[in-house]
Amino acid sequence: MASITRRDFVSSVAVGAAATTAVPAATEGAIKILALSCSPRKGQSTATALGVCLQAAREVSPRIETELIELGGLKINGSVAAGIPLPKGEQDDFPSLVPKLTDPRVRGIILGTPVYFGNMSSLCRAFLERCIVLYQDKFALRDKVAGVVAVGGTRNGGQEVTIQSVQISLFCQQMIVVGNGNPSPRLGGTVWSGAPGGVLKDEFGMATTRALGRRVAEVALRMAGLS
Ligand SMILES: Cc1cc2nc3c(=O)[nH]c(=O)nc-3n(C[C@H](O)[C@H](O)[C@H](O)COP(=O)(O)O)c2cc1C
Repeated sequence: MASITRRDFVSSVAVGAAATTAVPAATEGAIKILALSCSPRKGQSTATALGVCLQAAREVSPRIETELIELGGLKINGSVAAGIPLPKGEQDDFPSLVPKLTDPRVRGIILGTPVYFGNMSSLCRAFLERCIVLYQDKFALRDKVAGVVAVGGTRNGGQEVTIQSVQISLFCQQMIVVGNGNPSPRLGGTVWSGAPGGVLKDEFGMATTRALGRRVAEVALRMAGLS
């Protein structure tokens, strides 16, 4: 089972108000894969699973650079997507994420969400709704590769439904949505945080998560003409 190395955590920096963990590529001519954790709880199961996913992506090629951004603690108001302005003089944190998402070096985006009542977290939903500005901006996410990890407190707690629900938004953005690849291709990372010992001990879930990281990396490299 993959463990999270020190490399995953060495370069934690603040971008806007977001907690991010960036791991540079080991070689020139790199592409970047971004993971966004949509748990309101920073540093918990969803972020841990995404760390494993990104590590697997990096193992595909030294050209792969990764960054984990945790949305927990950020203010992201979904109503703004529907034209309801924030109270006068107030701002939220979504605009600070836009340069990260639209960076042309970012060829893959992996979204991780906890399962809440059989679906994504409200933070994930608000984030996806606010991404309508990217849809309206000539499909700024078009052709970036996308994958989804869902983390539930129980096995069969709604992870697959949650993944599909997130994927619908990603399809609308004209992203290239992939599931986890070999050896057992399915929808994405399906993780059980209630496993004795936590997510890293969920052997099945970690296998799907690592396979997703590899698949996103492989397709992103292909899209960039690097494989
Ligand atoms: C409001 C709420 C609803 C939840 N509903 C589900 C559920 O439907 N299925 C499930 O497997 N776990 C459910 N859980 C458990 C979380 O998915 C689980 O604790 C997960 O690990 C949280 O992710 P985090 O550790 O990254 O915060 C729920 C938790 C909360 C707070």
